[in-house]
Amino acid sequence: MMTGRRKSVANRTSNHEETQMIVSITGATGFVGRRLVQRLHQDKYCVRVLTRSKSKAQLVFPVREFPGIVIAEEPDWKNCIEGSNAVVNLAGLPISTRWSSEVKKEIMESRINTTSKVVALINASQDDLRPLVLVSATAVGYYGSSETEVFDERSSSGNDYLAKVCREWEGSALKVDKNVRLARIRIGVVLGKEGGALAKMIPLFMMFAGGPLGSGNQWFSWIHLDDIVNLICEALSNPSYKGVINGTAPNPVRLKEMCEQMGNIMGRPSWLPVPDFALKAVLGEGASIVLEGQKVLPARAKELGFSFKYSYVKDALKAILSGES
Ligand SMILES: NC(=O)c1ccc[n+]([C@@H]2O[C@H](COP(=O)([O-])OP(=O)(O)OC[C@H]3O[C@@H](n4cnc5c(N)ncnc54)[C@H](OP(=O)(O)O)[C@@H]3O)[C@@H](O)[C@H]2O)c1
Repeated sequence: MMTGRRKSVANRTSNHEETQMIVSITGATGFVGRRLVQRLHQDKYCVRVLTRSKSKAQLVFPVREFPGIVIAEEPDWKNCIEGSNAVVNLAGLPISTRWSSEVKKEIMESRINTTSKVVALINASQDDLRPLVLVSATAVGYYGSSETEVFDERSSSGNDYLAKVCREWEGSALKVDKNVRLARIRIGVVLGKEGGALAKMIPLFMMFAGGPLGSGNQWFSWIHLDDIVNLICEALSNPSYKGVINGTAPNPVRLKEMCEQMGNIMGRPSWLPVPDFALKAVLGEGASIVLEGQKVLPARAKELGFSFKYSYVKDALKAILSGES
């Protein structure tokens, strides 16, 4: 079915115009994935969307706007992965929900099972058709939470539930063939208007006049949607991007600062606290990602010379809330 990789590799030396990279993506229909697909499509990559639901994915990526994109459900993932140059693995049940024991199991299993499946398919690919790169999502939850510690990629993992999820998620990715370059991106809270925690927090801000959330002293390690997408794109094409790379902006803030900035930009006075219960009402136990944070620095991205478009939360929020980005 998919013979494009051979063509693209063969053309690498002969015709620069035709060297499009073929990228298969799980979780492509999500908040980060949608923007990544738009970007790769614009940049003339060949994109293969690996989804659980073809009909849903076709609505997200209509043929008119995304001509040439391949959309595949699980039985066809093998044909897509074999022959791709790279795979990006973003799939997982959203965590900002109410955590019943079944949901917790699914938060874990959705990540481990999808990652294991992708890794098995990469490993089983014919040698000359095996993807050369796997960029796999994980999260800053790996480090656990703390109001005092500072974490970078060398820090050890935490003891809570999310830390365990991230360790096992990364463990599944690490089983990929040793010849495949693996980048594990520990993603912070992604800021964008159309999804993620911020979209859920905005109405609360309107309702409660935007004050601190919980004590306000918790760390909030954020990244703008454009920057996480740029980081993933860099990881796809730059051979130096391997191992663990924190996907967070260089200047994490305490939650009270994030709220003050949001209050200023939205023209809401920042003096009435948003109570924990209100946040839990919209984010469920998943509110812990906001209520119990961690200060995570992007040490590797800096060493690699990655250039952040948004280093300060004020600029990121301004761009998002003004609809610029
Ligand atoms: N957004 C953030 O702030 C943030 C922070 C840290 C880490 N991350 C991680 O980065 C990845 C992408 O984030 P996102 O915000 O774009 O996620 P998202 O919007 O929740 O989308 C994730 C995608 O995963 C697939 N999915 C959902 N439930 C699933 C299940 N039960 N089993 C298998 N696949 C399932 C869906 O794709 P299909 O329906 O097409 O299969 C969905 O579009 C996620 O793994 C997330 O945990 C995100």
